[in-house]
Amino acid sequence: MTTVLVTGGAGYIGSVLVRKLLAQGMKVRVLDRLYWGRKPIEEVIDQIELFHGDIRDIRDEWLEGVDAVCHLGGFSNDPTAEYDPKANWEMNAIATERLALACKRLGVPRLTFGSSCSVYDGLPPDVDYTEDQEVQAKGAYAEAKYYAEERLRELADDSFCPVIFRQATVFGFSPRMRYDLVVNTFVKDALKSGSLYLHGGGWMWRPLVDVGDCAQAHIVGIQAPAEKVRGEIFNVMQDNYQIRALAMMVAGTLRLEDRDVALEEVPAPPRTRDYRCSSEKMTRVLGFSPQVTVLASIANMLRCINQNGFTEFDHPRYYNIRWMELLIEVNENLRPFESVLREGK
Ligand SMILES: NC(=O)c1ccc[n+]([C@@H]2O[C@H](COP(=O)([O-])OP(=O)(O)OC[C@H]3O[C@@H](n4cnc5c(N)ncnc54)[C@H](O)[C@@H]3O)[C@@H](O)[C@H]2O)c1
Repeated sequence: MTTVLVTGGAGYIGSVLVRKLLAQGMKVRVLDRLYWGRKPIEEVIDQIELFHGDIRDIRDEWLEGVDAVCHLGGFSNDPTAEYDPKANWEMNAIATERLALACKRLGVPRLTFGSSCSVYDGLPPDVDYTEDQEVQAKGAYAEAKYYAEERLRELADDSFCPVIFRQATVFGFSPRMRYDLVVNTFVKDALKSGSLYLHGGGWMWRPLVDVGDCAQAHIVGIQAPAEKVRGEIFNVMQDNYQIRALAMMVAGTLRLEDRDVALEEVPAPPRTRDYRCSSEKMTRVLGFSPQVTVLASIANMLRCINQNGFTEFDHPRYYNIRWMELLIEVNENLRPFESVLREGK
């Protein structure tokens, strides 16, 4: 039986991937700091082996007997990386490199890495970027991801096969929901306030992929023949969309449910993300193309939200940066009491 370690397995993509791996009869191990708690994996907790730990303190026991690692743990967006650049570098760059070295030392033959299409950000959006495009990663998050990509490629050899997935912006429903990703944000805003704001008119381009398809790419990555994927980079995306079109899809879908959603143009923020990518390599080399469209995923998201009677859209746990700020505030406030608690005073 194949044993897979999923780092960040209790996260937005990870909690979907864990369920898919289990459904395929694989043995699943999760390593996670549990920033968002256990709830996303609660339903499957007795079917997995859970290590509650930090990827920066790699332990051999996490990797013993493992056939493949799907590495998704770490800070997962620009705002959190910029909030704490040191932790971002330690987690997304250094820990990825150390994880690969540990895999090599312990004979784990395969590792898939959840990198990001944001390494293309900053290039003009006039062509669909392919994996061989020279990039100049901009910002703490993309720089760390790009460093990790490069190190993984250097470490590839006959016995170690790293596969790099430059994931597009993800959308769709997950047991650990994120409402800080563009399509999900529009769905949340449409349900909550009935207004969608198009910054700078929303003409910017963005490659996108459904969360289930993104998770499936990692399974394809661990099952593909090593000679096809060793040290290779693949863009993981369903298509490129303009933000304006995404808002219209969300508004149109809700109108079918007799709900009014207003669209409003507002000035662009100082920094916008605007780039397009190509998915051609993944289809050609791996025969895998993400299939779930934004429209289908919006419909599914609304179904899941309605089924769960979900109304707590404002809870900070659905917004990575707000949750991070709260965790730090709570820890800072608890620190003075630590010695008291420890010494039982
Ligand atoms: N969601 C997207 O749109 C997207 C796009 C491109 C790339 N990615 C990458 O995919 C990966 C997963 O993203 P996600 O959306 O599921 O994010 P997420 O924040 O929902 O999940 C990340 C998980 O990693 C865990 N984690 C964080 N730091 C850790 C550490 N130091 N040690 C152990 N566990 C830690 C968290 O507790 C969380 O469960 C990330 O590496 C992210 O950068 C995400």
